[in-house]
Amino acid sequence: MLVIAHVSDTHFGNDVQDPAARAAAVMDHLLAMDPRPDVLLVSGDVADHGLPEEYAEARAWLDRWDGPLAVCPGNHDVRDAFVAGLGIATRIVVETGGARFVMLDSLIDADETGRIDPGRLGDDQLVWLDARLAEDDRPSYVCLHHPPTTIDLALMDPIRLRDGDARAAVVARHPHVVAVLVGHAHTMAATTFAGRPLLIGGGVVSTVTADAEAPPTLWYDAPPAFALHLVGDDGRVTTHWRALPSGGQ
Ligand SMILES: [Fe+2]
Ligand SMILES: [Fe+2]
Repeated sequence: MLVIAHVSDTHFGNDVQDPAARAAAVMDHLLAMDPRPDVLLVSGDVADHGLPEEYAEARAWLDRWDGPLAVCPGNHDVRDAFVAGLGIATRIVVETGGARFVMLDSLIDADETGRIDPGRLGDDQLVWLDARLAEDDRPSYVCLHHPPTTIDLALMDPIRLRDGDARAAVVARHPHVVAVLVGHAHTMAATTFAGRPLLIGGGVVSTVTADAEAPPTLWYDAPPAFALHLVGDDGRVTTHWRALPSGGQ
């Protein structure tokens, strides 16, 4: 059994909620597990404004975790500050537990108008992804911040990955891709992409609701949420989402 703790959208520095308290509650929960998860995956929007002090807080939070770690940036992150503050490159492969986690960088740099919320991988990175998947046939997880397809949330669908179709073609070529793991959408949700499970890690700092739901679209009173992906010896992934009763509310 491989256990992936999938935490997303901590948004350290967010001034609506108490992101540090929420992230701490999630980490407390993970560290109390016995045995602990095999890997901690953080799928972006680590910081809210991409500031050095936010990454210092995030690094201190990550330092509590002494196991394998896989982190990618989101649209709220700033690439240079992310790399400098966390000491983690934005496009890496993490190997652990007989599995590979290909971490992608879907962040589009801010321009003169400010932060850009949709994501893009670009042709170079799609070639890189194809090569990483072709070089090793162990079970692999493709991880990035932006969902590469629509998920029927009015807030999120316009700011999804822009080149999702090209990415689907790459994933489709590699049958050992077990699942695609993403963040950004701040919701505990599962769908499919290129014939594989597309699993969204939930949101630590807030939850994004559908138009039909009564709470606000950015629901900060919802509890911090994350996912545990359990991969059985038969290769099947079973996801259990958790929403914690504590953490800055
Ligand atoms: Fe986010
Ligand atoms: Fe995001």
